[in-house]
Amino acid sequence: MCGIIGYIGEDDAVSFLIEGLRKLEYRGYDSCGVVVEDANGNTELYKTKGKIAHLEDILANNIENIKGNIGLGHTRWATHGKPSKENAHPHFDCEKKIFVVHNGIIENFNYLKRDLTKKGHKFHSDTDTEIIAHLIEEFYEGDLLSAVLKSLELVAGTFGLGIIHKDEPDKIIVARRGSPLILGVGKNEMVASSDVAAILKLTDRVIYMEDNQVAVLKKDDYKIYSLTRERVRKKPEKVEWKLTDTDKNGFPHYMLKEIYEQPETILNAMRGRILKEEGTIKLGGLESVIDKLKKMKRLIIVSCGTSYHAGLIARYMFEKLTDVNVEVEYASEFRYRNINISENTVVLAISQSGETADTIAALKEAQRKGALTIGLVNVVGSTIARLTTAGVYNHAGPEIGVASTKLFTSQVLILLMIATLLGRFKKLSMNDGLNIINALENLPSQIESILKQSDKIRDIAKKYHKFPSFLYMGRLFNFPTALEGALKLKEVSYIHAEGYPAGEMKHGPIALISPNCPVMAICPKDSMFEKMVGNIKEIEARNGKIIAVTTEENGILKEISDEIITIPETIEMLYPILSVIPLQLFAYYCALYNGCEIDKPRNLAKSVTVE
Ligand code: AGP
Ligand code: GLU
Repeated sequence: MCGIIGYIGEDDAVSFLIEGLRKLEYRGYDSCGVVVEDANGNTELYKTKGKIAHLEDILANNIENIKGNIGLGHTRWATHGKPSKENAHPHFDCEKKIFVVHNGIIENFNYLKRDLTKKGHKFHSDTDTEIIAHLIEEFYEGDLLSAVLKSLELVAGTFGLGIIHKDEPDKIIVARRGSPLILGVGKNEMVASSDVAAILKLTDRVIYMEDNQVAVLKKDDYKIYSLTRERVRKKPEKVEWKLTDTDKNGFPHYMLKEIYEQPETILNAMRGRILKEEGTIKLGGLESVIDKLKKMKRLIIVSCGTSYHAGLIARYMFEKLTDVNVEVEYASEFRYRNINISENTVVLAISQSGETADTIAALKEAQRKGALTIGLVNVVGSTIARLTTAGVYNHAGPEIGVASTKLFTSQVLILLMIATLLGRFKKLSMNDGLNIINALENLPSQIESILKQSDKIRDIAKKYHKFPSFLYMGRLFNFPTALEGALKLKEVSYIHAEGYPAGEMKHGPIALISPNCPVMAICPKDSMFEKMVGNIKEIEARNGKIIAVTTEENGILKEISDEIITIPETIEMLYPILSVIPLQLFAYYCALYNGCEIDKPRNLAKSVTVE
């Protein structure tokens, strides 16, 4: 979902900008552009519809013109005005002195555009963004910061902004409201971007800007202000991610790299959080609200997509380990419902990016109604991490592939740790806690053993990747896993797939069973095994093809399934983590055989920061 980057320093701005835009590509975009400025205020603007590679070709043909140590770059995910060169950013004012890049939506742009047009401003695009350049032009009287602050007073909606002015070629101004914006503080150079991934090349000293803040960046200085021009003092903090975390490290795709990272990310999620001697869990980020969590009677989980599926698994965990009633809501639905927030209600937002617009809106609605809100987030300093009263970080490193893999397993693991922590204050014994902890500690090696079957899974994908439709089924903890497996296949291979509780098959979906609609059955030897075998037999009796993910290589399933993928045994609550690995690999390889753009699937963005 789009991205902005700004650079001011002593290096060649354009090469830094392009490298930064490359790191933002995974967020999804339809057009891109850069503007570069030299110390005398000479500017060069290049933008295009389509990929950054095309922009690079254009720059290569004009390289002799592009000099300068200041610049702005943008990857656009169009909201107002179709994807085109004219609508690509940066946008500029009538005199082509002011250049703006923007993430977000200006909600009152029609009104402002009408007013500016009446004042004689000429527009060259259909975007909402362009009005910002003309507003600043309207207010500019020699002080760019003042003109920006006056302009933003009139703007309704969300923005992450980068702004330069030819008459003030020693600064970049950036501003944030509702779209992420992070500053990178280097030595005699500064960078601002929507995403840490674009900053890491320059520095790991970052400042997470807050909403309604503006910063003036010079190469050796930064000043942050409120919208009423009060100084805001903020020191840089060290970001935990490294530049290499954003590379593919030899893998053909980020998605495959991140699937293979899961033994490590599972370990990172547990690191420093297991209290074996007490048979419980330590989550520092929840300590400030632990007394309220002990009294919690109702937990509402709000999230989207894969994070929603993790939330569904959490419901079964909390029911098993605590006395808390759990509701799991699509954030996009929750935000528009009139939910009654009763006393001792906690709302948990699960979000990898921490920037999902629907989840943010759901959180704000919950806070408006008085709920305590906590978060489970991967991106440090993200909006959800800062909006919630307390929370837990995944520490999974950047997840670049649009299809979430390592974060799903990290989320499920941490949700079990939260349920265990709370359960140990009530109905869980020390031994219960230890059993869970022992199972957690076996996970990394168990995942490694599953990953060793990737060739077998690839061969199964080779056999099945042309089928037009799949059904995924599981029970209890593995029903949400079925949903997640189906989502993975849809997202990256564009094959239609639906997940169901296996018990639901006879209520309709079994009508779809045919040799042309294979079924992925998640069927470990757990409390639902016999029931699942019954479902699989129903499918086999109707000539359905079955791919079974199970712990029983040589049992009954071998006779009634067409394919068997085995996973190690664990406690029932952790089967989602083990059984999802084959489903991730299956989706990946189907996408590979279908020639899909795996890391940037069509129409999708890594973080859906607009409604
Ligand atoms: C999952 O593979 C998708 N990329 C998508 O469903 C994603 O999980 C959803 O958009 C939520 O994102 P978040 O976890 O960053 O909030
Ligand atoms: N709303 C702006 C546009 O449509 C910005 C979109 C984005 O965030 O990329 O150009």
